[in-house]
Amino acid sequence: MSEELRILFVTPEAHPLIKTGGLGEVAGTLPPALREIGVDARLLLPAYPGLIEQLNAQPLGAPLQVLSSMMPVQLFHGLMPDGSTPAYLIDAPALYHRNGPYVDENGKDWPDNALRFGLLSRVAAMFGIEGRSFGWKPQLIHCNDWQTGLTPAYLAHASGIRACSLISIHNMAFQGNFPPHWLTHLNLPRSSFGVQGVEFHGQLSFLKAGLYYADHITAVSPTYAEEIQTAEFGNGLEGLLSRRKDQLTGILNGVDSAHWDPENDPYLQATYSRSKLQGKAVNKRALQKRFGLEADPNVPLLGIVSRLTRQKGIDLVLAIADELLSQSVQLIVLGSGDKSFEAELRQLQQEHPETVGVHLGYNEKLAHFVEAGADIFLMPSRFEPCGLNQMYSMLYGTPPVVRRTGGLADSVIDATPRTLADGTATGFVFTGDNEAELLACVLRALILFQQKTAWRKLQISGMKQDFRWHRSAQQYLALYRSLITEG
Ligand code: ADP
Ligand code: GLC
Repeated sequence: MSEELRILFVTPEAHPLIKTGGLGEVAGTLPPALREIGVDARLLLPAYPGLIEQLNAQPLGAPLQVLSSMMPVQLFHGLMPDGSTPAYLIDAPALYHRNGPYVDENGKDWPDNALRFGLLSRVAAMFGIEGRSFGWKPQLIHCNDWQTGLTPAYLAHASGIRACSLISIHNMAFQGNFPPHWLTHLNLPRSSFGVQGVEFHGQLSFLKAGLYYADHITAVSPTYAEEIQTAEFGNGLEGLLSRRKDQLTGILNGVDSAHWDPENDPYLQATYSRSKLQGKAVNKRALQKRFGLEADPNVPLLGIVSRLTRQKGIDLVLAIADELLSQSVQLIVLGSGDKSFEAELRQLQQEHPETVGVHLGYNEKLAHFVEAGADIFLMPSRFEPCGLNQMYSMLYGTPPVVRRTGGLADSVIDATPRTLADGTATGFVFTGDNEAELLACVLRALILFQQKTAWRKLQISGMKQDFRWHRSAQQYLALYRSLITEG
């Protein structure tokens, strides 16, 4: 690598090691994309069960005393499974050897999450302060979401030459707010507990800390970067974000094109491409059978793959379900999340066993299969920082129905007479967060579905989209360069 930049990418999850959603996917794919363009990007994450073995990682140096309130921890280093990216793991079995990175089996936050992710943040900062003792000192620490939000605070309070910091916001709704007594356990100075610091409504806020102290902030789409400066999307931090708007940039995520490619997808019943779409019908038929639905090629099949939360507008789908199902349509939902949504979906399936299929749980293979087998993908999110599923669905010839928000607004082009005529349409977009607009939008999609030639054109223009990481990786590279030069 030439005059390579040294970037430490700190994250609480990374595909294929551990993934609960889009952040895991991004952390597994952006660092290798950066390495391809000459950046020495490395990962840092907690050593959850089995990770040391998966990476064949070796101990790095002697155990470290990181926070005075806890036992020493051991750092390990290895290579990500595809061999592309070096990764550092923090081995602290008492904190990280659990089932689930954030919550227990009942969906309840681990009570010591402040310590678990305070430790992650602190070790990241140590790389940026005294990295040479680990054999490698990054010039910039790229933090992600609240779990890494204290890193910029630690760096800001360190003396000497230190790395600069960037925090990417994947979701403002998760903030990591904890009672103030954690300040002492986490070795943060008392003076940092104020409006000009880590305090947020009387609590220690990891996200606020990151947004306040980081040298720069990114959001995972340009539209979300604008939205979070408003009360509707800012979750109370809109004031801080609009004050820092000159240091706030939106960069749309890319997708892992090797992993999400209908032409080379081992999870499908049949592969296909935009010039050979027949395989898509094979997947539809297999998916219908898998869920016990009539294998009719002409019935439009609506698909959802989602965390089941209000963010994703699952309640809006439930609200229009009866009306929708009174038409000739089928619906398949793969998801997990809020117990109440899970129960309502299960009930919907029981009421409509011939037209509704529901799989509750997290299932990577099935996610690919639904993207390929469905005709139309539903993603009516109330807010969506970026969203990956709508991009997968376009690439899989499954036009999405989305709300005009965040990354959905930035990646889907609504089918209007003009965009259909000029071939730029890729899906269906509505504006309000209400069921009437969602229903009208789905009906629009159903009408076009009947017009085979127009539908084919819509599918193909989605499949032609280039959502690969290279463009976004170049934007991150330019940003890293400017921050490192300024610093
Ligand atoms: P978010 O990160 O907000 O959940 P994204 O669209 O950015 O939303 O990313 C979600 C990722 O998680 C996608 O890769 C999607 O395929 C995956 N996913 C979500 N729910 C499931 C599920 N139940 N089973 C398998 N994969 C899922
Ligand atoms: C978050 C957001 C999602 C985004 C993902 C990756 O989970 O909810 O919109 O795609 O992070 O950045």
